[in-house]
This record gives sequence, structure tokens and C-alpha cells, in this order.
Amino acid sequence: MANSYRDTFTGPHLLGIAGLNRLEVDSLLDRTADFMVLNRQRNKHSDVLGGQTLINLFFEPSTRTQGSFELAGKRLGADVINMAIKSSSVAKGETLIDTAVTLNAMHPDLLVVRHSASGAAELLSQKVDCAVINAGDGSHEHPTQALLDAFTLRAHFGDLAGLRIAICGDVVHSRVARSDITLLTLLGAEVRLCAPPTLLPGSAREWGVQVFYNMGEALDGCDVVMVLRLQRERMTSACVPSTREYFRYYGLDRAKLSAAKESALVMHPGPMNRGVEIDSEIADDPNISLITEQVESGVALRMAVLAALAEGRT
Ligand code: NCD
Repeated sequence: MANSYRDTFTGPHLLGIAGLNRLEVDSLLDRTADFMVLNRQRNKHSDVLGGQTLINLFFEPSTRTQGSFELAGKRLGADVINMAIKSSSVAKGETLIDTAVTLNAMHPDLLVVRHSASGAAELLSQKVDCAVINAGDGSHEHPTQALLDAFTLRAHFGDLAGLRIAICGDVVHSRVARSDITLLTLLGAEVRLCAPPTLLPGSAREWGVQVFYNMGEALDGCDVVMVLRLQRERMTSACVPSTREYFRYYGLDRAKLSAAKESALVMHPGPMNRGVEIDSEIADDPNISLITEQVESGVALRMAVLAALAEGRT
């Protein structure tokens, strides 16, 4: 594997996109490109994490994020365990800190954590000796999702500078949106947000993005449309009148997409609510949908993050 990237990201943790600089991001994305090559080979093994232990600590359900961290750790030769939270002591009332101290005593080298509370990953990082990777904390940050999105876009467009990207949907509950806005802006893209007012935080206008309530206006001239899941499990009251109504005004279908550039590409972090925020016809069209590529990039990006953090500790 080529070693041409400058190894500027070394951790000690990956808690968010905020705080990363351009060189650190570029070094992770360059490293990801190398792992993309490895992952397409028959023998996908490397020994970068040989002898090390990775613990996946997911307090919220996850399919692709947990699975890709597990695969990433295993492909790099680490011992990986997934803590089953529902059957663990947490279900018996153990606090986050107690859990952290207990796990720390097992000498993990890497701890991947997802939690419903914003700030949980940072709190854990102060209590353990290993590298902590934030796999999503409340509605705060989901840095590996943003990095894999940036990698996927870089693979298609080369440079993100000047790209017009609309992030549409449930922004208020979305850690993906927050991390993506920070990263895409850092990489020079023009970011627009589009959602009904009930799904946009009041502070959105201070994020250095343009805010729209109408899909036709928001998507005008866009290179990329990123669709977010309607996160009904996080809503304390109904933020939309009905999912049918939502689809009519905000669900991405061919008619709404026609406002974007003819060459526009579509992304979604998954899991998707088909027929709510996105039409299957769009999601499944290989000429415009990057959704499965995002999943592929996710494994390589997580390998890059784990490898860089492990190296930073040696
Ligand atoms: C996202 C998450 O959990 O924040 N999913 C993911 O990691 N791919 C987005 C979501 O749940 O809608």
C-alpha cells in the first residue's frame, strides 16, 4: 500500500469534526483511498491493529455504523467485541462512567461509542486510557459519517470546493447534518439546508449555510442532494402533520430533483424511510444514488481512522 499521505491525524481521539483541520482531514481521506483498494481484494487483511482490542459500545441501535467498525477492526487484525448493551449491566442501572471504568480495566486500545446523549463520547474519553471514537452522540456529532460522505464526494468530484450541496430533511435531530455542515464547509462546499421550520433549529442561520423551506428553491443548481431520515424516535411531539404530507413537500422524487443540476447525485446516510424522505425510484437508481457507495466508503474510512489513532498511540 502506498504511504504517500501525510500522517497528520493522530488523535488522541475522534470526537467530532469540529477541531479537525484541513490537513488532518486530507490525511484521513488519502488513507481511506488506500483501504478502498485493500477492501476490493480477495485477501482484505492487514496487521495494522494486530494484538490490539477494539470495543464497540453502542447504546443505540445501529446496522451500518456498528457493522462497519466491526469489519474495519477485524480487517486490521484487532480483537473486536460488541458489547450487547441490552443484556449488559447498563440494563441493570450501571452509569456510563461505571461502564467506562469497567471496560477500561480490560485494557482496550480503541473504544467506539454511540449514545443518545450529546457529549457522551467526550465524557468517556476523559475516563479511559484508550482512543475513543464517537459513532454518534445525541444530535451533536457523527464524525465518521461526515468523513465517509466527504470521501464519497471526493471520489466523484475530485475537489469539493465550490460544490453546491443541499442537506434536506430532519436537520434538528441530525448529528449527521451537524458534522457534514462543518466538514463540507471546511472543504469549500456551499451548503444549503432545506426542511420545514419545525425540523430546523433556530440557530441554523448562524452555521454559515443558507436556509430554505422550499425544495425547488433549495435544490436549484445543486450538484449534490443529501437526504436525512425523519427521526421519529427522537421527536417528543409530532414535527410533521403526516408522513404523506411530508413526502409531498419534502420527499425527494424525480420532480423535485429536476430543480438540481442534471448531473446531480443523491446521498442518504441510512437507514432510509422509503416513500417518506426519499422515493425508491431515486434511492435505487445507480446513475444518481451514491447510497451503496457511502456504505463501502464507510468501512475504508473507519479503517483509516482506527489505523491513524493506533499509530498516534505508539
Ligand atoms: C445516522 C445516525 O445514526 O445518526 N445513521 C447512520 O449512522 N448511518 C442517521 C440516522 O439514524 O438517520
